Amino acid sequence: MKVTVVGAGAVGATCADNIARRELAHELVLLDIKEGLAEGKAQDMMQTAQLLGFDTKIVGSTNDYSKTAGSDVVVITSGIPRKPGMTREELIGTNAGIVKTVATSILEHSPDAIIIVISNPMDTMTYLALQATGLPKHRIIGMGGTLDSSRFRYQLSQHLGCSPGDLNALVVGGHGDTTMIPLINHATWNSIPVTSLLSAEQQEKVVADTMVGGATLTKLIGTSAWYAPGAAGAMLVESILRDEKKLQTCCVKLDGEYGQSDICLGVPVVIGRKGWEKIVDIKLSDDEQAAFNKSADAVRNMNDVLKTL
Ligand code: LAC
Repeated sequence: MKVTVVGAGAVGATCADNIARRELAHELVLLDIKEGLAEGKAQDMMQTAQLLGFDTKIVGSTNDYSKTAGSDVVVITSGIPRKPGMTREELIGTNAGIVKTVATSILEHSPDAIIIVISNPMDTMTYLALQATGLPKHRIIGMGGTLDSSRFRYQLSQHLGCSPGDLNALVVGGHGDTTMIPLINHATWNSIPVTSLLSAEQQEKVVADTMVGGATLTKLIGTSAWYAPGAAGAMLVESILRDEKKLQTCCVKLDGEYGQSDICLGVPVVIGRKGWEKIVDIKLSDDEQAAFNKSADAVRNMNDVLKTL
């Protein structure tokens, strides 16, 4: 198996590191436009191979797409991250051009690749990647909901004093501070509804803190987070390459599911060797569906900006 990670910044490098440590691929290519960055980070990671005990061969390259040829999965992290006070949406002008170029260049060398999009604004970048490549929809997966759901579990675990691994909790909708929808009424701690364990105030706080999870970290660190985004990308790579059929929230093209069309938005999907293989329909309440529709409107407005670039 061969995986390429495009963008050797903090998210891309962390994603690559996770993939290598877990030996998900035989060969891993790290690509970046900045001279020497990907080569340097790839070598640094290769120098952990003996220490950590992995056998994945990591190759770094400055923008030489021929090195990526024959990749089974490609993770796109390219673009600028947000700074404190910025929304993910403000990145569209810069990142749209980058993501379009990367997605089309990747396909020239890896026509069968499944593409995972991490670049922000993620919902619009996923939609753009789909449009720019014309790939079958099952082969383009936006990562956001996987990350947001993991952040949701973290917030719940803090209030419940439990292991995040014992929680089932999904965030659907957009990957934006105001567009994501943590589905607290569906969340469980090993089958126990969390709503029966947390006060209304606690529930509100968990939802609010989840929604601004990325912004909170950006403020603390001074730039966008990378450990969880990188790990979320690697987890999707794993589910694809090992055909695990994990149920994750991912940003995928909707054709009437959840009442929406001509948009890529976060919904629960099964991730396997063919990409996202099926959308699972959670029965949303009227309020949840209304929030989902509102999220779709906001993402659609952002997608419309693509026409003006
Ligand atoms: C975040 C970025 C990766 O949420 O969107 O941290």
